[in-house]
Amino acid sequence: MEKEKLIDAVDKRKTFAIISHPDAGKTTITEQLLLFGGVVRKAGTVKAKKSGSFAKSDWMEIEKKRGISVTSSVMQFDYAGKRINILDTPGHEDFSEDTYRTLMAVDSAVMVIDSAKGIEPQTKKLFQVCKMRGIPIFTFINKMDRDGREPLDLVTELEDVLGIQAYPMNWPIGMGKGLKGIYDIFNKRIELYRREDKAESFVKLDGNGEIIGKHPLKEESIYQQVLGEVELLKDAGNNFDTKKISSGKQTPVFFGSALTNFGVKTFLDAYLQFAPSPNEHRTETNDIVKPVDDVFSGFVFKIQANMNPNHRDRIAFVRICSGKFERGMDVMLARGSKKMRLSNSTQFMADTRETLDYAVAGDIIGLYDTGNFQIGDTIYSGKKAIQFEKLPQFTPEIFVKVTAKNVMKQKSFHKGIDQLVQEGAIQLYKSYSTGDYVLGAVGQLQFEVFQFRMLNEYHSEVVMTPMGKKIARWIEPDQLDEKMSTSRNLLVKDRQGQPLFLFENEFSERWFQDKYPDVKLTAKL
Ligand code: G4P
Repeated sequence: MEKEKLIDAVDKRKTFAIISHPDAGKTTITEQLLLFGGVVRKAGTVKAKKSGSFAKSDWMEIEKKRGISVTSSVMQFDYAGKRINILDTPGHEDFSEDTYRTLMAVDSAVMVIDSAKGIEPQTKKLFQVCKMRGIPIFTFINKMDRDGREPLDLVTELEDVLGIQAYPMNWPIGMGKGLKGIYDIFNKRIELYRREDKAESFVKLDGNGEIIGKHPLKEESIYQQVLGEVELLKDAGNNFDTKKISSGKQTPVFFGSALTNFGVKTFLDAYLQFAPSPNEHRTETNDIVKPVDDVFSGFVFKIQANMNPNHRDRIAFVRICSGKFERGMDVMLARGSKKMRLSNSTQFMADTRETLDYAVAGDIIGLYDTGNFQIGDTIYSGKKAIQFEKLPQFTPEIFVKVTAKNVMKQKSFHKGIDQLVQEGAIQLYKSYSTGDYVLGAVGQLQFEVFQFRMLNEYHSEVVMTPMGKKIARWIEPDQLDEKMSTSRNLLVKDRQGQPLFLFENEFSERWFQDKYPDVKLTAKL
């Protein structure tokens, strides 16, 4: 009975991320989905960004200020008998590392594309990560209420640039001011365009795919044109192939307008039908952990401090990979084989938090953390040790020296640095010779967020001195001689005390290697 309950619960889970280039409409579509789930009651909070009320998924102060989503947020809701977990990902390229890790915690991805812009750089980058993992991707081509590129052109670009088969589930009838609706190939109907305040309106199609009886749309030339295009897709396009979809080789494509909530529900319904339930996960020892296994297991893919300034806390985000979670359960932390009790947990309904008592594989839970967790940690119940495969990590490329402006306030400075560094978006190093703190990141914006949060959350004003781009290379401690360090290759140690050089450029790295041919330099985090 217990087992059946677990199988049933796991099967209901749909855990996905929405990926897109900034401004394609990810926040808007997320909001519409939350609306269907009854989580938010008012659409258009994104539009209200400027007027001072903000999207639920935009948590932090800095996001409000800059109008971008900086951190991944998790939202859970029930819809059509399914339990949906959406993992929001920051679109800004400086935050791609966080995004990459988030993509390790999902079973599928929804790719939002701006119909006027097509495939943009960040879409491409994120798509590659999904492709590498072979996760199913569903495409939503957005902003059909605006003039954009020809649908055929967009679908061709999708196939050519991303190297994936596209299968249009529906096809727009016009665009911009001339948008009449979508020709729904999959559901064999036409969905007439209406503004968000009106009820849905469908027109049935006959066996030949034409409108039954009289209808004003039949008189429009765009209708005939769409019939021709749909015919062409049937003859020359790909066949719908669920196997290819589930292995990420084919993407179902939907058209719509997130802003006017047009085509979003049609998308969601089809998506839920074909999106996979929770996946298996591979361990470092090559064992497969199945979601319906009895033992509980999961991994930490993100740590965030002070999600809510009123709470002053740190949360470790855990993707459950198998079994069920119950509040108060005892687990092992794989790193260091430490036993711990999970008594303080939360689930995510955007910015409202509820204490969580029960969750199963596929769900994302938040564990209040007092410094026990690191990104990539595995936790498990049961006797057999489980350690999931490593999460992708990126070596920092730009660096700054950081000091507290007010030397009297060292305590809050150190506390802030310590906590923010543990979240994993920035790396902390200490200079061997001077003891200076050096921060490393993949993108400049991460430093700005750091500075802002230090001030806002820890009341510590920091001074950052840019050091520019560097190449970080680790060295075996027993090969180290402090004399090797020059102004071109600063010697620092990481948080684990491991020594590394920050080379000015490739030239200085080569110079070093020529001078010390026996010294092994490695690129890692
Ligand atoms: P993002 O999270 O992917 O970055 O995009 P977001 O949802 O914030 O949307 C970016 C802009 O595009 C917003 O305009 C939003 O209203 C608009 N948008 C989203 N979906 C649609 C759509 O279907 N049709 C149209 N016409 N617009 C859409 P904004 O609030 O004016 O912000 P901004 O672009 O001035 O920053």
